Amino acid sequence: MSYTIALNFEDGVTRFVDCKPGEKVLDAAFRNKINLPMDCSDGVCGTCKCRAESGAYDMGDEYIEDALTEDEAAEGLVLTCQMVPSSDCVIAVPVTAASCKTGQQVFAATVARIEPHHDAAVVLELAVEDGAAVPSFLPGQYVNIGVPGSGDHRSYSFSTAPGDRSLGFLIKKIPDGLMSTWLARATTGERLDLTGPMGSFYLRDGDNPLLFLAGGTGLAPFLSMLEVLARAGSRRHIHLIYGVTRDLDLVLVEQIAAYTGRLPNFTFATVVADPASDHPRKGWVTQHMPEEMLAAGEVDVYLCGPPPMVDAVRHYLDENGIRPACFHYEKFTPNAPQKATA
Ligand code: FES
Repeated sequence: MSYTIALNFEDGVTRFVDCKPGEKVLDAAFRNKINLPMDCSDGVCGTCKCRAESGAYDMGDEYIEDALTEDEAAEGLVLTCQMVPSSDCVIAVPVTAASCKTGQQVFAATVARIEPHHDAAVVLELAVEDGAAVPSFLPGQYVNIGVPGSGDHRSYSFSTAPGDRSLGFLIKKIPDGLMSTWLARATTGERLDLTGPMGSFYLRDGDNPLLFLAGGTGLAPFLSMLEVLARAGSRRHIHLIYGVTRDLDLVLVEQIAAYTGRLPNFTFATVVADPASDHPRKGWVTQHMPEEMLAAGEVDVYLCGPPPMVDAVRHYLDENGIRPACFHYEKFTPNAPQKATA
């Protein structure tokens, strides 16, 4: 049995390689035509130092302290020339993909379903073509989808779990928007080219309670994360706050609610900003933060939404002296490719 190693480069490109039992990550990457940074390959120089974001592994005892100190190892830094995985792992590589002679992967998928939700959003479901490999990604990551006939692309987070032949996206409807216009006349079976996956906004392993903060179609990556957590039988405490501008912008609430039956410690709240709304929770996400959860500390916060919301939440955390154990965020602007910042 081999393990899947996600190599997440500093420019957001992620490549997945298989690592055989007993094989070192550096060797597995090289076998997959990815030249990770290295000099000695003997645990002496430290050139291959990366950060293990998740997974189990053995570093052995053949490297020297100059290459990797005890403190660095305790923090999760690794030497890929010594690291032997014993599970799937995610490794942050502190150089660009191009410098390792690799880059984005391009794959094709066809339109299987287009489901508009009022004038707010569209659920787009793509099917991986028969015989083609299912693209790997980490829950929370995004791809660039080429808009046919435009020579341009838009970036969208997966809303489905890795490994499925069906790829889901939640796309904000933009009047005269490039993708929105194309989707309005697209039909099933049309082919799209996808490039990726990308982004450092993805779910990390851990036991801490999770606070998910979604703004508008920033809900998409959390749907992917929730599905992965549910399939893994997670018992983590998870609270999702899903904020939107208008009542009509609240989409897929039933899908979210279904996770309360699959995840024993999952709760969620929807929030509508429109003062004219009859929604029971009005205002901004920051007005509905679970103070008890945050006060207890040791909470991992994930935040995805438009820039003003992301900035407001960061300001809220700063002002209230809240320092989450982990804090990952992604801003996006609907008219331009998403900008991943985590
Ligand atoms: Fe020198 Fe790994 S390549 S320590």
